[in-house]
Amino acid sequence: MNKKTFKDIDVTGKKVLVRVDFNVPLDESNKIIDDTRIKAALPTITYLINHGAKIILCSHLGRPKGMFNPNLSLAPVAKRLQELLNHQVVLASDAIGESAKKLTTDMKNGDIVLLENIRFYKEEEENDEQFAKDLASLAEIFIDDAFGTAHRAHASNAGVARHLPAVAGFLMSREIVSLSKALDDVVPPFVVILGGAKVSDKIGVIAKLLKKANVLLIGGAMANTFIVAKGGKVGMSRFEQDKVEVAKNILDEAERLNVKVVLPVDEIVSQEFAPDAKSKVVDSYNVPDGLQGMDIGPKTVKLFKKEIKKAKTIVWNGPLGVYEFKKFQKGTKKIAKAVAKSDGISVVGGGDSVAAITELGYAEKVTHLSTGGGATLKFLEGAVLPGVDMLEDK
Ligand code: 3PG
Repeated sequence: MNKKTFKDIDVTGKKVLVRVDFNVPLDESNKIIDDTRIKAALPTITYLINHGAKIILCSHLGRPKGMFNPNLSLAPVAKRLQELLNHQVVLASDAIGESAKKLTTDMKNGDIVLLENIRFYKEEEENDEQFAKDLASLAEIFIDDAFGTAHRAHASNAGVARHLPAVAGFLMSREIVSLSKALDDVVPPFVVILGGAKVSDKIGVIAKLLKKANVLLIGGAMANTFIVAKGGKVGMSRFEQDKVEVAKNILDEAERLNVKVVLPVDEIVSQEFAPDAKSKVVDSYNVPDGLQGMDIGPKTVKLFKKEIKKAKTIVWNGPLGVYEFKKFQKGTKKIAKAVAKSDGISVVGGGDSVAAITELGYAEKVTHLSTGGGATLKFLEGAVLPGVDMLEDK
């Protein structure tokens, strides 16, 4: 990586503002469902504690649209972080106001202050210059460790970096190095697995990866758009009418580049879109009217597993069924197992695919679990990420 990291600077006794991505899923009672992103930030924070820095953490949580929302307070995150570190974490009740200023004025080496949700201020997403200056004025050094937010040019990453010496944290560097490796040192067969609802979210990444991949496995609702493009009948399944032409072009391009595209041949369908909906398996190209796809079927799982088994490099992003309903997680979990068993390089990104790997206890078995959703896709597309671009060069 050509960017300076936290190891290239002296942090001892310095006030260090660290942008982290603590955007974790919460349940209805504001309990953290998955703390992967908090755990992923620990190496940088621990390093800073051990090197006597004064640590000011900053993150967003959810999309509060520039307004205070008690349900999106970082309080549960502060509590969880304190437990994980076994070290006091003080939560400021604002990010650039009286509380933040007071708590960050007389810090001792090793102290940690977590600023309240930065998206409670509309200036954050506007990348407001004065707001970025005010935030920067709390510290002497800026470390960006929020890879998950690196595709956004907001005040707390790109903005602050204009006012402080700005370097990458451990997680940021690891994400960039690992994702670059998967793209640059591809060992064939290279199998790309894409799922999720929309083709539109993945057009960029497909365009980029088609040039490198040998096999493309497509599941999730986005597969329906491809099935329609091939003349299939998808019943009541979700698909994007305005992307059918795009899907046709992708299929043509794949043929031209000799990339094998594998689409679902069978699907688990139901009448209702509900967690416990009655379901059955049907041919993906002939889904009866009134029924909709909820997960990939057993024949598809078999087909996908056969390709994954042969792979030496795997990139996977997006669930293959309706992952929010336990009953329809099976396909995604079977694929997660196959990816974890692969002895090739495996990179997995996107909330649900990562959750499937983690829930099954396979986190250690994949080469790299990315903490980014949109950021990972943008990186794989080859886009310049504003949160990385603003950091100091080596
Ligand atoms: C994510 O969850 O992908 C990141 O935290 C960015 O969140 P955002 O999509 O709300 O900007």
